[in-house]
Amino acid sequence: MSDTPRAPGRTTHLHELLDRLSLEEKVHLLTGETAFTLPGNEAIGLAPLAFSDGPTGVRGPRFIGGDVVALFPSATLIAGSWDDEVAEEVGRMLAEEAQRQHIHVVLGPTVNLHRTPLGGRLFEAYSEDPYLTGRTAAAYVRGMQERGTAACLKHLVANESETLRNFMDSRLSEPALRELYLLPFEIAVQDAHAWSMMAAYNDVNGVPATEQDHVQNQIVKGEWGWDGLIMSDWYATKRTAASANGGLDLVMPGPDGPWGDRLVAAVRAGEVTEETVDGHVLRLLRLADRVGGLTPEGQEPRGWAQDLPAVDSPVRQEQLRRIAARGMAVVTNNGALPLTPGAASDDGTVALIGRHAIDTVDMGGGSAVVNPPYRSTVAEELTALLGERVRVTDGPAVRDRPVPADPAFLTDPATGTPGMEVVLLAADGTELARTHEDSAEFSIGWDDDLDRIPATAVLTTTLANEAGSVLLGAVGAGRWTLAAAGQELSAELGLAGRDPGEAVLRPPAFAEVIELPAGAAVTATVALDPVDPREVLLADASLGLAEESHLLGMSALGRTALVAAPAPRPDDDLLAGAEAAAAAAGTAVVVVGVTEEQETEAADKTTLALPGRQDELVARVAAAARRTVVVVNAATPVLMPWLEAVDAVLVAELPGQEGGHAVAAALTGALEPAGRLVTSWPAADGAAPAWDVVPDEDLVLSYDDGTFVGHRGYHAGHAPAPLFWFGHGLGYGRWEYGAVQVREGPGGPAVTVEVTNTSARDSRETVQVYLQPAEEDQPIRLVGYRGADVPAGATSVVTVACDARLLRHWDEAAGGWAPLAGGELVVARGLGDVRARAPLA
Ligand code: BGC
Repeated sequence: MSDTPRAPGRTTHLHELLDRLSLEEKVHLLTGETAFTLPGNEAIGLAPLAFSDGPTGVRGPRFIGGDVVALFPSATLIAGSWDDEVAEEVGRMLAEEAQRQHIHVVLGPTVNLHRTPLGGRLFEAYSEDPYLTGRTAAAYVRGMQERGTAACLKHLVANESETLRNFMDSRLSEPALRELYLLPFEIAVQDAHAWSMMAAYNDVNGVPATEQDHVQNQIVKGEWGWDGLIMSDWYATKRTAASANGGLDLVMPGPDGPWGDRLVAAVRAGEVTEETVDGHVLRLLRLADRVGGLTPEGQEPRGWAQDLPAVDSPVRQEQLRRIAARGMAVVTNNGALPLTPGAASDDGTVALIGRHAIDTVDMGGGSAVVNPPYRSTVAEELTALLGERVRVTDGPAVRDRPVPADPAFLTDPATGTPGMEVVLLAADGTELARTHEDSAEFSIGWDDDLDRIPATAVLTTTLANEAGSVLLGAVGAGRWTLAAAGQELSAELGLAGRDPGEAVLRPPAFAEVIELPAGAAVTATVALDPVDPREVLLADASLGLAEESHLLGMSALGRTALVAAPAPRPDDDLLAGAEAAAAAAGTAVVVVGVTEEQETEAADKTTLALPGRQDELVARVAAAARRTVVVVNAATPVLMPWLEAVDAVLVAELPGQEGGHAVAAALTGALEPAGRLVTSWPAADGAAPAWDVVPDEDLVLSYDDGTFVGHRGYHAGHAPAPLFWFGHGLGYGRWEYGAVQVREGPGGPAVTVEVTNTSARDSRETVQVYLQPAEEDQPIRLVGYRGADVPAGATSVVTVACDARLLRHWDEAAGGWAPLAGGELVVARGLGDVRARAPLA
């Protein structure tokens, strides 16, 4: 399929521009110019478009040390509000962030599903449910594109885990593909007309996502009649002609890649028609036109909005704090929340405990990382709110891997300012660059001219250490030697067996504790080995990388950092201190969670257990304290072996730059944590309808759960009941439901129900409607939801429309959609708390 037929107006104009380009010029436009920009063409008025990740902030073109930009709450928190208005507001704010940086396309939202809770990248995606995902995505896209910034739905498709993502093959049935994994894309296309999509790294049923004629050409561009552009994920394109013919429109990044001269040759050889190339170019020109990147002759290019809120302005702070708190979920509460220090029942003191209280994790790892203007911790903000009543106590370690040094711990001897000096040398010793970095990190390849591959980097800095034990080490592939005060540490950090993306997204690291004099000078030298994925990747010929595979281009990339910090205190001491603090206070608030080691692109989890000795921490605190509140600082499920011993749990997720503020406001009730869970939380490792993320020896990962994903599978008994259901969340209100009425409308049934807020405070309820189909082989599913703000003691009448796209199933034999008839509508606050049922005719 080349493109939609010629139509009058803009399309004719785009065809005219196309007709002015030679084959070579056209093909040139179809690969990035750099990591995040496209080539322009002055003769036809095409500006060089700029892209940026997405989805929890607009990072800008640099991976490391980029511009200071606003850090948003994780996608799971945005979806957790179950509110289109919130997602739309996020879209609008992201468009403003993009405009400030002159970015045309934001690489988000991520609309892959939470299929198994082990997926490392779930924090970037919305939910286990395709309807909640699709609706949230549509609202986000609407908000963003209204302001002239393109959204990019990613990753098309069946990209629910990270392990071997460049090589694995997601095997799934056509009903699962259509009803689950494509549905969010379909909803965001139909309801918000997203202007671009990104093809995933993985294969789908044996065919690379970038070559998916079935998905890209037949379904997305064909059946849905979608006229947007499909770009590849970065380095995902595996073969030249197959991808061009399979519906991929644009290869990213550039300037090198599997298209270029190879695609020109393929056209000349008759493997790809010029009409196909034209179709891709038309889609590119259309995208440019939509984002103001195509300027008719004689006209001024698009302007960029000025007067945008600064990243740390009061307006942004209010928005980011409110949105974060709104999505947080109270999952259990015997009255300990909201905190009311000073109430008759306690002495008013709060022991705030845990590493995550002091070092609150505000984002996940990988390409979604941004450089925020500030970070706000729970310790700072709860103390700011409650004053001296709060005593803060550190908890046990939460990370296994060393992290880059705090820049404030380093001084560049050349400038005298925080950071380090970096000298890059060629193999013959020629100095290629000498720079000051104001952080402990720098990247090689990705952010600069991709051709420049230094052989050695030398990092120099002076530590702000006191005399004594210091943790010293490095992050990044290569052969390291660290010299400090006459001592030498060395390590060889390889990438063997790793995904090529890990060199950038999750590089190897080492660190050791050594004794140093105060203010020690450190020189770290790293011999960099360009990485050839064919050699390091599992050393396995079965990966069968084609000569033209774009992945080979990743060989030049890497991320490097210096590790330096005061030596950590032993966990035993920290646990004993926490116990003592808990015993002395009226209420203990323990903040636990995961870190970017678990919630990251490029790697999956192996367990849902909290890392380190955090379970022991909660158990010991709960045994010692009069009252224990747990805050979970994780976007995705964790195990809670201590649940019965605590009084309340707030799931705060990854709350962004206003994180500490939002948690403090949610704990005290200044803002209601009105979120509902976006994913079912399993009771134990493995106790979920889908679990494994490791493909078999043929690199196949079977989506054996079919259409019984998440709550659909739990409800059908495919796994033991979850600890907390999808849709669960108590907020601070209490709710009574009246009788339901079902009325048939043109688009499907609508459910009306009275909800009464029987609590003493204004609150927000989210009415959820599920369909249990009459057909026995069809899973229960969410078909509609609607939020209502209800004053204390008041009753609201809420009408929820059931979405017709959930009232159908894919009939494999007939090769088409078939309606679901009859069955029962279930009104529930998560399927563990059903409030009403109504049969359907
Ligand atoms: C990710 C994409 C991202 C791209 C560009 C890839 O590693 O999978 O989601 O947009 O990098 O940074």
